[in-house]
Amino acid sequence: MATPHIELQDNNLIAKTVLMPGDPLRAKFIAETYLKDVVQINGVRNMFGYTGTYKGRKITVMGSGMGMPSIGIYSYELFKFYDVDTIIRIGSAGAYTDKLNLYDVVLAKNAWSESSYAKTMGVSNKKKLAATKKVNNKIKKTAQKLGIPVHEGTIHSSDVFYRINGDEYKEIYEKQDAICVEMESFALFANALATGKNAACLLTISDSLVTHEATSAEERQNAFTKMMEIALNTKI
Ligand code: ADE
Repeated sequence: MATPHIELQDNNLIAKTVLMPGDPLRAKFIAETYLKDVVQINGVRNMFGYTGTYKGRKITVMGSGMGMPSIGIYSYELFKFYDVDTIIRIGSAGAYTDKLNLYDVVLAKNAWSESSYAKTMGVSNKKKLAATKKVNNKIKKTAQKLGIPVHEGTIHSSDVFYRINGDEYKEIYEKQDAICVEMESFALFANALATGKNAACLLTISDSLVTHEATSAEERQNAFTKMMEIALNTKI
């Protein structure tokens, strides 16, 4: 079947587990670099998706776009209409604490958000939604085996990238215990809750609101390797 935003005709072409970077070209890069026997499963609006195998396991990788409305659409269609069981977001985040350095890997335990996504959808009035614990446990085991340190904690899913004075994060860090900021996971976790499916989020720190350090687009490409290896080697 096809849905408004995914043109796939055959559900068998999509894996039970989907890795979702924000950037569709990163999805292409991952498919070309890591997967075998790759087929493209979406091209609508250039939101590229690919299915292939990694160490013999079928896996799909597809872009989510930026922000909660975008990942909200794609992840809902994947869960609801394409029999996807688990989505692992793989993205970047800005650090809210000097305990996180550039390129550190974060695993979201919960996503806190001021977004109305979950409420408007009718799934939850909560401001903090959890990732699926059993998926997080598998991710942590994989990271341990690979010897890659992972910081697990609450993250902030924000609707805003550019902020007027730049200090607003301090209150969220203190009151919500959110260690970093991205823009998608709260909607992904809401969709998992709405459909009874599984979701998790791995992030690489790409900038810091505390030190104002940042990485270039080119540096990010390489820095994502650690997170990618954890996600690809996690057997769901
Ligand atoms: N993703 C990566 N860095 C971010 C930031 N500073 N704010 C929101 N999302 C981000």
